[in-house]
Amino acid sequence: MADAPSVQRTLVLVKPDGVSRGLVGEVLRRIEAKGYTLAAVELRTADRAIFEQHYAEHLGKAWLPALIEFMTSGPLVAVVAEGHKVIEGFRSLAGATDPTAAAPGTIRGDLARDWGTSAIQNIVHGSDSPESAAREIALWFPHL
Ligand code: RTP
Ligand code: MG
Repeated sequence: MADAPSVQRTLVLVKPDGVSRGLVGEVLRRIEAKGYTLAAVELRTADRAIFEQHYAEHLGKAWLPALIEFMTSGPLVAVVAEGHKVIEGFRSLAGATDPTAAAPGTIRGDLARDWGTSAIQNIVHGSDSPESAAREIALWFPHL
């Protein structure tokens, strides 16, 4: 039998490439069309310090400095989306990390590509577990 419904929350970031390409509305549309609700939406220019915490699990990776450079290169939109199984559900909407390989029908598969830049530009971030979601939502929206 299916689990009883329980409201779950996830942190979504529309990354600077998504904002500069005018895709914020399209990402929010897909989240809402899937049936999730928006608990918070905020345009932000984030600094390095927040990404050192946000990407703590990637500390030491060779590509982290380029990723942080990209993530701080312009405004992004921080979103909290809500619904039963939204963490897994949004990861499914987002598609694979590599936009070249991401399946058509997903946000990354439909809207992102490899531009040959040093950081992968893949439009969105989504929390990957309940523990990450709780940590990331507390980091980006401490009042929630
Ligand atoms: P995200 O955290 O952004 O939702 O993406 P993800 O879980 O699919 O991927 P993750 O492994 O957590 O990586 C975080 C972000 O780092 C960049 N990345 N670059 N150059 C590389 O090999 C590389 N690998 C990852 C991507 O922007 C990825 O979304
Ligand atoms: Mg990740």
